[in-house]
Amino acid sequence: MPELETNQRHSELFSPPSDVRGMTELDRTAFSKTVTVPALKVKKEIVNKLMRSLKRVALQRPGIKRVIEDPEDEESRLIMLDPFKMFSQDSFEKAELSILSQLHVSPQISKYNLKLTYENFKSEEILRAVLPEGQDVTSGFSRVGHIAHLNLRDHQLPFKHLIGQVMIDKNPGITSAVNKINNIDNTYRNFQMEVLSGEENMLTKVRENNYNYEFDFSKVYWNPRLSTEHSRIIELLKPGDVLFDVFAGVGPFVIPVAKKNCTVFANDLNPESHKWLLHNCKLNKVDQKVKVFNLDGKDFLQGPVREELTQQLGPPSKERRCSVHIVMNLPAKAIEFLSAFKSLLDGPPCPSEHLPIVHCYSFSKDADPAEDVRQQAGAVLGVSLEACSSVHLVRNVAPNKEMLCITFQIPASILYKDQTMNLENHEDPPLKRQRTDKAFSEEKILIASNI
Ligand SMILES: C[S@@+](CC[C@H](N)C(=O)[O-])C[C@H]1O[C@@H](n2cnc3c(N)ncnc32)[C@H](O)[C@@H]1O
Repeated sequence: MPELETNQRHSELFSPPSDVRGMTELDRTAFSKTVTVPALKVKKEIVNKLMRSLKRVALQRPGIKRVIEDPEDEESRLIMLDPFKMFSQDSFEKAELSILSQLHVSPQISKYNLKLTYENFKSEEILRAVLPEGQDVTSGFSRVGHIAHLNLRDHQLPFKHLIGQVMIDKNPGITSAVNKINNIDNTYRNFQMEVLSGEENMLTKVRENNYNYEFDFSKVYWNPRLSTEHSRIIELLKPGDVLFDVFAGVGPFVIPVAKKNCTVFANDLNPESHKWLLHNCKLNKVDQKVKVFNLDGKDFLQGPVREELTQQLGPPSKERRCSVHIVMNLPAKAIEFLSAFKSLLDGPPCPSEHLPIVHCYSFSKDADPAEDVRQQAGAVLGVSLEACSSVHLVRNVAPNKEMLCITFQIPASILYKDQTMNLENHEDPPLKRQRTDKAFSEEKILIASNI
């Protein structure tokens, strides 16, 4: 029998009973059924030896034991055989028969009534049996501590409580299942969610990049799919560097960077994020290294960031080796906040290698998302970022919607006020230096600074 056909018949035989279709309230007992399978009786001492030689014909079915006790003889065991390969003792191959004979096992096959229950089925098999035939059942979820976070489609909604319960039953450690009710478009980027099954408690603990975080998942933003992106940025910072996290959430950039002995200034407008950010700094013992703020991003940039940059970047010092990074992860809006960098600092510009490095996130639905993000950021700043930025594709969030991160040093012509005056006094004019810096496009910076 062709393998594909065998697999198909296998999955039919070992799938839940057909009358569970349409069930909306989970009745685990309704999943019980009996399947008749061929079995071979052997002495219990030789089971292990024999199993190696019977690989081809033994029943291969995850969740079902291949060897069970013989109800009639405690010295014997029954080896479950594949019902689509073993019809009679003639189905054994010569080599298999020879081993059986060497071990004094009769090749005679008996029938065994194997009882399958809810516990024997995988979650996908259960949902495939329950939901309307031919409809998509793949119910992937994001795991956030003890919470399974689902994003159900319309046709799955009548079965939402059952789906939630199956996720809890089949995934050890999951004790609550929630469904996203709408897209995150509120200010604090937390999900509107409905508890489908299990505990209502949304206070949870997660571990990311070796650090622990605690928070109320219903009130703050947390996305386990960002852990690789978090670690990419974390890797860029070296001990002694400075990080400003404008939209810090509960701290996934902040805590690992502070642990690296960097100075960190972290901000979030959501009072709940601010509370959990403080908590997580303490939890991970970095509270002495992080200054936490609860401000609008623009006020954070024009207040504490401005103050600190003034100290960090001037007056120019030859010994300065650290870099300043500014992370802005609010992809729906962060680009608008770039305008806060315009003329943010007074005084003579710092050397170009010390200019702060911005990592700004954005979504794009454009055919050329990297170019789109460069254009958007450049338009806000009034300068072309074509030649002096890199764009990293973070992840695909929906069909035709990408999340990206644009990284660039803020041009001195943007960051500093009154550059023309400063140029005359400065012994090594920063703008001239920028013009020789290959990373920046000389003409565009000149245009932007109106020189
Ligand atoms: C997409 S989350 C990112 C959180 C975190 N940095 C991460 O990577 O998981 C954006 C965060 O920005 C905060 N936020 C939204 N609007 C803000 C604003 N105007 N100013 C400051 N924070 C804001 C939200 O509360 C949320 O925690």
